[in-house]
Amino acid sequence: MIYILLGPPGAGKGTQGVRIADANGIPTISTGGIFRDMAAAGTPLGLQAKSYFSHGKLVPDEIVIGLVKERISLDDCKNGFLLDGFPRTIAQADALEKILAELGLKLDGALDFSVSDEELIRRLSGRRTCKSCGATYHIEFMPPKIMDICDNCGGSLIQRTDDAPESIITRLAEYNNKTAPLISYYKERGFLKNVAADATPDEIYQRVLKIIS
Ligand code: AP5
Repeated sequence: MIYILLGPPGAGKGTQGVRIADANGIPTISTGGIFRDMAAAGTPLGLQAKSYFSHGKLVPDEIVIGLVKERISLDDCKNGFLLDGFPRTIAQADALEKILAELGLKLDGALDFSVSDEELIRRLSGRRTCKSCGATYHIEFMPPKIMDICDNCGGSLIQRTDDAPESIITRLAEYNNKTAPLISYYKERGFLKNVAADATPDEIYQRVLKIIS
């Protein structure tokens, strides 16, 4: 199973990705997560990426494409994988088509999660992320049992730097200018599956299951 998770920042790609991946025993490849880990480790590429993502700008294609190619080639992707946050530009989508062909792999579809801008802003501004294990919460919709503490590992919950109001505005603009054109791209190729994502996580997951089963 190979699916792309498309959709604007805060649409719930990460939340649904974890459920789909766990249920199918496949990895989720989150390019945003890879960049945050690399930046936290202080690698030169991670710090270069941080100079873009911390302000809400997309990381340049030449950095992202090489990383994804390397990641997809690993053994744990042999039975399938989810791509969360990749591709995000037409150049990345063209590169993915080539990478999959080279590896003899076939894309099953692109799940496009759609949510109103108002709801996206509420979700992003209330998100909290575990500093240790990366689990995601929301102060209103998915609060942890103990405030600011991760239910899974007891780590501290923090707000992502790119969830600051000025970065959210830049991220939405980047999405509209550079990523939204992928909706037509995948529609024309017969891969697009729309998911109305303005519901609870459980309801959305049921919608996803109907599409992928
Ligand atoms: P990335 O980490 O991919 O961020 P994003 O696409 O902006 O997506 P988010 O993680 O913000 O949102 P999500 O859709 O996963 O929502 P979530 O499930 O967390 O990328 C970060 C940055 O890295 C980019 O801005 C860019 O700079 C760079 N980057 C990454 N990939 C790149 C690429 N390919 N090319 C170039 N640059 C790249 O949910 C959000 C919140 O809502 C959470 O609090 C959650 O608990 C809550 N929530 C989820 N579902 C629901 C629901 N149904 N109801 C209520 N609340 C909900």
